[in-house]
Amino acid sequence: MTDPAPSLATPFRSHTCGELRVDDEGSEASLAGWVHRRRDHGQLIFLDVRDRHGITQVVVDRTDQPAAHATASRVRNEFVLGLRGRVARRLPGTENPRLPTGDVELRATHVTVLNEARTPPFYVNDPDAPIDETLRLKYRYLDIRREAMQRRLLLRSRLVQAIREVHHASGFIEVETPTLIKSTPEGARDFIVPSRLQPGTVYALPQSPQQLKQILMVGGIDRYFQIARCYRDEDLRGDRQPEFTQLDLEMSFVDEAAVMDFAEWMVVEVSRATTPERPIQDAPFPRLTYEEAMERFGSDKPDLRYGMELVDLAPALVDDEGTPASGFRVFDEALTGGGRVKAIVARGMGGATRREIDDLTETARRFGAKGLAWAAVEPGSAIRSPIAKFLGDERTAAIAERTGAAEGDLILMVADDADTTSDVLGRLRVELAGRLGVADPDVLAYCWVHRFPMYQWDAEGGRWDATHNPFSDVVPEDEPLLVTKSGDPARPSPEDAAGQARALQYDVVLNGWELGGGSVRIHRRDLLERSFGLQGYSIEQMHERFGAVLEAFEYGAPPHGGIALGIDRWAALLAYQTNIREVMAFPKTQSGADPMLEAPAPPAPEQYAELGLRFVGTPRSTGATIPAASESQPRP
Ligand code: AMO
Ligand code: AMP
Repeated sequence: MTDPAPSLATPFRSHTCGELRVDDEGSEASLAGWVHRRRDHGQLIFLDVRDRHGITQVVVDRTDQPAAHATASRVRNEFVLGLRGRVARRLPGTENPRLPTGDVELRATHVTVLNEARTPPFYVNDPDAPIDETLRLKYRYLDIRREAMQRRLLLRSRLVQAIREVHHASGFIEVETPTLIKSTPEGARDFIVPSRLQPGTVYALPQSPQQLKQILMVGGIDRYFQIARCYRDEDLRGDRQPEFTQLDLEMSFVDEAAVMDFAEWMVVEVSRATTPERPIQDAPFPRLTYEEAMERFGSDKPDLRYGMELVDLAPALVDDEGTPASGFRVFDEALTGGGRVKAIVARGMGGATRREIDDLTETARRFGAKGLAWAAVEPGSAIRSPIAKFLGDERTAAIAERTGAAEGDLILMVADDADTTSDVLGRLRVELAGRLGVADPDVLAYCWVHRFPMYQWDAEGGRWDATHNPFSDVVPEDEPLLVTKSGDPARPSPEDAAGQARALQYDVVLNGWELGGGSVRIHRRDLLERSFGLQGYSIEQMHERFGAVLEAFEYGAPPHGGIALGIDRWAALLAYQTNIREVMAFPKTQSGADPMLEAPAPPAPEQYAELGLRFVGTPRSTGATIPAASESQPRP
């Protein structure tokens, strides 16, 4: 910029409500903002006036300024005021050290009501007041006036700014892709929009810009990024909204390491720019294969802020020939049947009561376990365990030693098939870490999980399903595995070697949340056909679903790959939140409704005819007000 940016002064204000300091003493100033709090002392009225920059105390004196005082005496919280006066130092002892403006006040000569306000349905000025979330969403503008929301939206804005700066500095071009498109499957249902000009047809809103960004690579853009709005009709959770934002990027002439290296550098730069005060645990980020993540943490999104790793107990449960011989039937049967017996250690929980352990067992059952075996290391290293009578003292001690449990610790053991064992202990690990408070809330523990299985068997469809993205490339040494046992590509079976193939696919994980995911794409036509064949698509079906990309691929697709990161999730984690709604200005409720806009709503009567629509059945309210069917829907 050649000229300095204009100041925040406007015809209504010389300063913001966060700006005045002792240096301004004696000068004339004007402010504009909302009444945060009003204290009437008769002779003096104190108004705390707020805008997004801060709060300034304004004093109105009846004797000096009778007109201003008369106005001030009728204002209420959340009125919008214009104020003029002289900046004065506060009397000694009346300073407010919690406000940056707390050493001064504005002695008002003029108080103007710019707008009145109804009594708000909740306290805008009390950061600790518990407020029902539906009420917050219905009156989101009032909620957004609250300091916590302001801070979070500001953090999100800084995050997006840093993302843009880092990408522009790294040779990326920001390209907008349309949102009225054709289905881009990412595993959810599509939202669709009926077309008026072509009755009987619909657009799909993108689940991601995936196909378009790959087409941009064919278009020679080389390095693309976008702050992209995505739409997925799926069940909502704390980390999932039907409409959300991705940092989406794609790069040409790259391999797996090139995308991961760039993304990692970018994530560190953006983190440091957005929340410089939060330490990044490891940079470079640990890179775990999917297999290793599942083995050690029982999760493909491990929280690495703490250890509590899963321990394989098998070596302590077998005899010299490797035959399961622990004496505890449940363990031996699991191992004989090809399953696993694994454990985690809850530090300091060795004194757990019967009830606490029953509660943990119940939790494990909810996670899918058949039971939960336990052993507590007591003072003097004696071991208390209901299964010690089966295992014998020696084996019980060997188990404790394998797990590294010390005096006062509790060992929790699960025996089941490999997937269930990992999953249950992985979830128990997260649950216990929460109870024990072992995760440092300030630390940002990023890591990579990569080399996911390329496919999972879809028993119903009788085909292999891409675990992430149907275009993901295969780890080069696994390419020979992309075959069917029958030899006929059109007849896949669960015994195919393809089940062993790993994809060039990576997720970036932050504090136990999946922050982003991506892959190197298949750019070779022959490989794509083989992979799609395993996924049960014929050439014709492939063209129906992915025609545009496949056609583009005929005209010289460069090797390419990319990744997308959830901006809502990133902002939530950086702002210490566990729900992405807290970093979205206007999120949807659990049932996908916007209580403020009262969306979704039935179409306007004329839209039925225009769009050739007719709904079967009666519209059902989802929290938003929906008029009765007869009012809006023409009778068939
Ligand atoms: P994926 O489906 O893994 O990959 O999405 C990438 C990231 O987007 C975020 N995300 C969501 N955030 C909020 N609400 C949702 N409903 C939601 N769904 C996903 C997550 C997730 O990690 N096209 C590929 C990327 C690629 O291969 O380049 C894709 O969309 O943080
Ligand atoms: P039982 O002999 O079935 O009463 O089980 C003895 C203990 O083993 C109980 O504490 C059970 O919760 C536990 N248990 C049962 N099944 C399993 C399993 N699959 N994995 C781990 N512990 C189990």
